[in-house]
Amino acid sequence: MNKLSPRLNAVANFIEDSSKVIDIGCDHGLLSIYLANKYSNIKIIASDVNENALNCAINNIKKTNLENRIDVRLGKGLDVVDPNEIDTVVIAGMGTNTIVGILKYDRDKLINVKNIVIQSNTDLYFLRKNIISIGYYIEDEVLILDKNIIYTVIKFSKGKKKYNYKELYLGPILMKKNDSLFKRKNEKELNNLKIILGNITNGHYLYRKKIKRNIKILESLK
Ligand SMILES: C[S@@+](CC[C@H](N)C(=O)[O-])C[C@H]1O[C@@H](n2cnc3c(N)ncnc32)[C@H](O)[C@@H]1O
Repeated sequence: MNKLSPRLNAVANFIEDSSKVIDIGCDHGLLSIYLANKYSNIKIIASDVNENALNCAINNIKKTNLENRIDVRLGKGLDVVDPNEIDTVVIAGMGTNTIVGILKYDRDKLINVKNIVIQSNTDLYFLRKNIISIGYYIEDEVLILDKNIIYTVIKFSKGKKKYNYKELYLGPILMKKNDSLFKRKNEKELNNLKIILGNITNGHYLYRKKIKRNIKILESLK
């Protein structure tokens, strides 16, 4: 079995056997290849909007003789699937705005989607808030250290739960786990926010207010 980076391995750990997965933005295809090797009953669509990226995936899939197991499709977001083809969406290595755009733009494609697994490192408050707003709750979350970067991977499942601002910002499950990476991530974030606050002019009132609110939350963890 091909070896995945710790980041993609954490994503793969949230995918279940016998699921019908779309790996959106598959790029090299390594996650899809790993999942096809790991689970004999999984169905996988590997898609990418970029033709060169998809060709890279196709080559890797051929090298591993998985052409009959992985369905490769060129296109944007959920455009490439019918709702009955998928019950799991995986999006890794993309910014939150793109991810939220993909999921919110094509809501009707999510009718049968039970699980959404996301790895993104930008604005996780916005990410959690928006995915929850389309009818999912946070089933699990994990932090993973890969090449000295702390990545967040979140598994959303269909259903409703209410969260407050602090939970959406820090991650309700990460807060409960409260492990050493969580502390390290928050310390780093606190330092960054203090620097940002020092550089924002008084005119940006709402942005300053948001940063101050987040600083207060992070300081309360100490
Ligand atoms: C940084 S790579 C991440 C690759 C892989 N998922 C990973 O985590 O290692 C992002 C990929 O997403 C693709 N992408 C960006 N926007 C997309 C969209 N709207 N639909 C499908 N693919 C997209 C890019 O072409 C690129 O190959």
